[in-house]
Amino acid sequence: MATKKFTSKSMLTCCFGSETKSNPEPKRVVPSSPQRLSLLDISNPGLEISTHDLWSTFIGSNLHVFTLDELRVITNNYSYTGNFIGEGGFGAVYKGFIDDKLRPGLKAQAVAVKVLDLEGPQGHKEWLAEVIFLGQLRHPHLVKLIGYCCQNEQRVLIYEYMPRGNLDNQLFRSKNLCPPPTPPNYRFIVVPGCSAALPWLTRVKIALGAAKGLAFLHELKKPVIFRDLKAANILLDSDFRAKLSDFGFARDGPDSDKSHVTTEHILGTKGYVAPEYVMTGHLTTMSDVYSFGVVLLELLSGRRSMDRTRPRKEHSLIEWAKPFLRDPRKIDLIMDPRLEGQYSAQGAKIAAMLAYQCLSHQPKLRPTMSAVVKTLEPLMEMKDIPRHFVYVVPKAADKGDCVNQIREKKRHGNRVRHATLHKRLSDGIIHD
Ligand SMILES: Nc1ncnc2c1ncn2[C@@H]1O[C@H](COP(=O)(O)OP(=O)(O)OP(=O)(O)O)[C@@H](O)[C@H]1O
Ligand SMILES: [Mg+2]
Repeated sequence: MATKKFTSKSMLTCCFGSETKSNPEPKRVVPSSPQRLSLLDISNPGLEISTHDLWSTFIGSNLHVFTLDELRVITNNYSYTGNFIGEGGFGAVYKGFIDDKLRPGLKAQAVAVKVLDLEGPQGHKEWLAEVIFLGQLRHPHLVKLIGYCCQNEQRVLIYEYMPRGNLDNQLFRSKNLCPPPTPPNYRFIVVPGCSAALPWLTRVKIALGAAKGLAFLHELKKPVIFRDLKAANILLDSDFRAKLSDFGFARDGPDSDKSHVTTEHILGTKGYVAPEYVMTGHLTTMSDVYSFGVVLLELLSGRRSMDRTRPRKEHSLIEWAKPFLRDPRKIDLIMDPRLEGQYSAQGAKIAAMLAYQCLSHQPKLRPTMSAVVKTLEPLMEMKDIPRHFVYVVPKAADKGDCVNQIREKKRHGNRVRHATLHKRLSDGIIHD
């Protein structure tokens, strides 16, 4: 069977993997970096590589190629009432379950199935970026891509399922029921553990996890710029371990002799994008550091980066909070009131100063992500968290017992005091 060829142009309409499995010996595509195939490697206009070469050499080893029929079984025919999780710019996401009979070598597991909306703003390019980056990069703080589907014009991504959804839901939705964004009149779905207030140490753990994910990307031999860090793109496992998701906008960092990459379009999410990137189109790893600063500030304050329901001066979280961040005496004023003061005062000061540095208008003054990790790590050990005094009102029936217990305690105390005094007197310690 002749394998399909594509150039950077045809790459936008063809697909790799499923149609070429019978070709036994893939030709090696030589990536510009020995570590990893980059998006640029397959966008090179002069390059002609077969779909089979690409799939077999770099991506196929880690990923499973699913058919549309299999995905229908996995998602219970894309059931809206039972499986729909939510919808973003790429398309709808469904919870699914792979049972151990589906494929030899593929373990039974819950998955999230993200289906490209063919009428939506994203397309093959974003799908391919996810496959190229997440197909090759593995880290405890990056969501795991299990496979993909590319049949006709359909594009689907299959990830490990993250039971606690995303940070946006956990931090900002005050009830246990989190409504999916669209369509508006659909039922609410339950996001387990979507609570009113995340405890302080859980917030620190999430910030640290996201920071480790970004540090890993930035420190690769060929660095990756994530470009769309926001609370909605930080997914949480059952233990609140944070994992970065959505690599559709990710870009390879600049070559070592360049300071930045210039992007054709300014992509990202309002309220999170670094100001210099918006102004100049110059993208660096420091743009991610700025977005991280926004997320850190959201974790501290419990406020969204943009919130038009607040008074005018507080619409932009950064503008409102920045003057408080660098003054340790004013940190309490920006802390999430739902924490009810139960946070480490010392830890909050360090985190606030860190957020301030990440949000610097000058990219060079921002810390690197590995410096951020080093600063946040000790916060997990800071236990100066005030606890609420809990007074348990005794039940009416217990009241009598309670009074007796108090009397007995008093009597016991008196007996001990008396015995001690007696002993000290007889030992001659106390003199008249
Ligand atoms: N692996 C996953 N496990 C569990 N839920 C997921 C997973 N991936 C995405 N989701 C959920 O699916 C919904 C849609 O996610 P998606 O990433 O497509 O959009 P978004 O992040 O909300 O918006 P945007 O497109 O701007 O990034 C969100 O509620 C998200 O938490
Ligand atoms: Mg997302």
